[in-house]
Amino acid sequence: TIVPVILSGGSGTRLWPMSRPEMPKQMLALTAAETMLQLTAGRAMGDVFAAPIVVANARHADLVEQQLAAAGARPQALILEPAGRNTAPAIALAAIAAGRGREALLVMPSDHVIADVAAFHAAIERALPMVSQGWLVTFGIAPDAPETGYGWIQIGEEMAEGVHRVARFVEKPPLDAAEAMLASGDHAWNGGIFLFRADRYLEALAQFAPGMLVATEEAMEKARHEGVRIYPDATAFAASPDDSIDYAVMEKAERVAVVPVAMGWNDVGSWDALHAISERDADGNMHRGDGGGTVLAIDTKNCFVRSDGVRVSLVGVEDLIVVASGNDVLILPRGRSQEVKKLIEAMKAKP
Ligand code: GDD
Ligand code: MG
Repeated sequence: TIVPVILSGGSGTRLWPMSRPEMPKQMLALTAAETMLQLTAGRAMGDVFAAPIVVANARHADLVEQQLAAAGARPQALILEPAGRNTAPAIALAAIAAGRGREALLVMPSDHVIADVAAFHAAIERALPMVSQGWLVTFGIAPDAPETGYGWIQIGEEMAEGVHRVARFVEKPPLDAAEAMLASGDHAWNGGIFLFRADRYLEALAQFAPGMLVATEEAMEKARHEGVRIYPDATAFAASPDDSIDYAVMEKAERVAVVPVAMGWNDVGSWDALHAISERDADGNMHRGDGGGTVLAIDTKNCFVRSDGVRVSLVGVEDLIVVASGNDVLILPRGRSQEVKKLIEAMKAKP
């Protein structure tokens, strides 16, 4: 069976004000009645999947546990990081907890949408024979924009049906390089989902990030266990370099394969992205109140409005994003939601 590894440690600042440090993106119900974390867990249930290993920040332990339970997902381990060291060490903790052997780990971000789960499962099935042979597999998404926030994969020769060698892996390229790769026709986005044997991942770390392997091994040896909860040793874990799997391993490793897949993938990286994938009414609006919030809109077009508390009322506006959450209200024109990052920076400087 495949061991799902769910990464739930990110903070998702671009979806402020709903996403906050105490309630990050993956714990919100953004696209459905279920939260992103619950949808992720639900995608890896069934005969071929073992109980998941979830890696999250210790501050979210209760929330993660409650959400998983409500979704009927019983984790075999809930690894609780004292502080995030990015994805490469988080996956190392999971690979060690899984037993360091030949079992396949399906590493999934907890904050993406996959509309076609059957296509996802079919892609996993295509990848499995190569995974058993020791390949590190990623899933490639057909690109439609020169995204600089993604990893890019140059698709090489086909080794088995639907499985290609990765000719080159470029994490977060500059814009001109992204434009060239988009135009090339033989590149894909890295979907951020990985499938590999636990032992192969740890071998790659030994080769390319030995300090990280030593630190995560020590953190797990000295870990405190409470039922399914595992608290890695804080001092040992803090000594690990802070790096993503993409930079630490995927850009460097040999025997890396990609399975191109069309599965309605979206990483919901902004309010605009969420508006684009949401169901809209005849006027192009997506209005939703959660947790007591209501939205009243007259003569509005192509607006995205969410409120989780107060009543939001609009008349005669177009192309606006309005998000009310707690004591905060965000208003911006559609198309500029990447700039929420700037707001977060400004708030840090002047709270
Ligand atoms: N447990 C844990 N600890 N999880 C983490 C940590 C951490 O320290 N840091 C990030 N995560 C989780 C996030 O919650 C997210 O679900 C996932 O790991 C990926 O992290 P991101 O920070 O969102 O990565 P990214 O978006 O910059 O880039 C990755 O995803 C892109 C696709 O969305 C890369 O894999 C890119 O190559 C890829 O294109
Ligand atoms: Mg991301």
